[in-house]
Amino acid sequence: QKETTVLTIKNTPNAPTINKNIYGHFAEHLGRCIYGGFFVGDTSKIPNTAGVRNDIIDALKKLKIPNLRWPGGCFADTYHWKDGIGPKENRPTIVNQWWGGVTEDNSFGTHDFLNLCELLGTEPYLAGNMGSGTVQELADWVQYVNFGGKSPMSDLRVKNGKKEPWKVKIWGVGNEAWGCGGNMTADYYAGEYRKYATFMSDWSNTGGLMRVASGANSTDYNWTETLMKNIPANMLGGVALHHYSVIDWNKKGDAVDFTEEIYFKTMQQALKMEELVTKHSAIMDKYDPNKKIALVVDEWGGWYEVEKGSNPGFLYQQNTMRDAVLAGATLNIFNNHAERVRMANLAQCVNVLQAVILTDKAKMILTPTYYVMQLYSVHQDAQLLPITIKSPLYTYNGETLPAISASASKDKMGLVHISVVNVDSKKQNTLEIDLNELGIKSISGQIIASSKLQDFNSFDNPTKIQPVAFKGFEIKKGKLTVTVPPFSVLMLEGK
Ligand code: AHR
Repeated sequence: QKETTVLTIKNTPNAPTINKNIYGHFAEHLGRCIYGGFFVGDTSKIPNTAGVRNDIIDALKKLKIPNLRWPGGCFADTYHWKDGIGPKENRPTIVNQWWGGVTEDNSFGTHDFLNLCELLGTEPYLAGNMGSGTVQELADWVQYVNFGGKSPMSDLRVKNGKKEPWKVKIWGVGNEAWGCGGNMTADYYAGEYRKYATFMSDWSNTGGLMRVASGANSTDYNWTETLMKNIPANMLGGVALHHYSVIDWNKKGDAVDFTEEIYFKTMQQALKMEELVTKHSAIMDKYDPNKKIALVVDEWGGWYEVEKGSNPGFLYQQNTMRDAVLAGATLNIFNNHAERVRMANLAQCVNVLQAVILTDKAKMILTPTYYVMQLYSVHQDAQLLPITIKSPLYTYNGETLPAISASASKDKMGLVHISVVNVDSKKQNTLEIDLNELGIKSISGQIIASSKLQDFNSFDNPTKIQPVAFKGFEIKKGKLTVTVPPFSVLMLEGK
């Protein structure tokens, strides 16, 4: 007799929409994310468009990435955008002081990034420099990219070959201001934020900028409270939050060679996101009960030791089934908190941390996390269908975690999508879902699974892990029974 867990999905007409921006990405000037990743230069033999790899553009288009954050991260608070415009041969260099101390030639700048976003059909999210920049410098950047009339900055943009402004809506005001962004206190940052945010726009916030405040580090609830208390709501489009699934900053563990104990600890950190978004949202609710301000988790993902032999400052790591489970479970948390979590950015897109794409010279591979993002793209802008479940437990060494993570949505065509992750590394779990209320007659499914948790896609075996058709379910009298294999990510589609 199989143990079966009931998962209830409610057709709730007033449930929120899952903002597509939850599926955002992050591209920092860090290691081989931009240089040697996205950007190979237009003289490269690797097929490219204005220096950006075509294979990366094609792969990201398939993910329908809704927004891309740039140029950092910590790098953003050292970046002076004026050094990255105009003729490339005249641009000054910049030392990437946080990431490997390498000297960059600024050949990838504002035009390169915003043109890339146009190619991808994605919304840019520019992270402004508050830490080492000035109010004027950030105000000038806004004018340079957004102003359609005549002004010193828009004239400069036109001189550099771009007549029409890009109209960038999403702007970060500093990054990790409590750390690499200037080691500020929450009070001090809130004051600075008010000043910077003021000069980014006019009285009526023409252009409707979404200004995002540099947010808390994981459990720093005081940070969120201070920002919400001290920054007028009309100046605040979003409050950020950063949380990495790292087991110990001094001993992060190998990306591929890990034990079940380490896997369990990583998942403890990943599932902590539920508590973090719940508690940060509750603080925001006190000051913003109508939920006008978004919680923006603009850095999340797994963080392990760098690959042996690679530059320690470049944060290059492989990506296994552990990362697929981590991504699926985290995205389910964001979906289920769609009312407040309206944007998120996986760290990072190419060759850094929990990347969706890895490159080695001309070769490119898609990671298990890429495929999770691909399966989950169906949730973008779909209506949330709230779920109730009393999850079975995943037990390791006397400690427990909920084994099943799930979320569901109904898209504009009326298709229902249910994403299910079995976090348990050993036990399959059987779920029963009543389809009657949802009006579903038939189901199809795809699964991401592999024989070992440590499995990954390598440059020699790039397609080891990919979604395949899933048949482990049956429907009887409108009841769906699904058997979810250990450490797998599942997407069911009902119609
Ligand atoms: O994503 C890597 C780094 O992590 C970012 O630069 C920083 O914001 C965070 O600490």
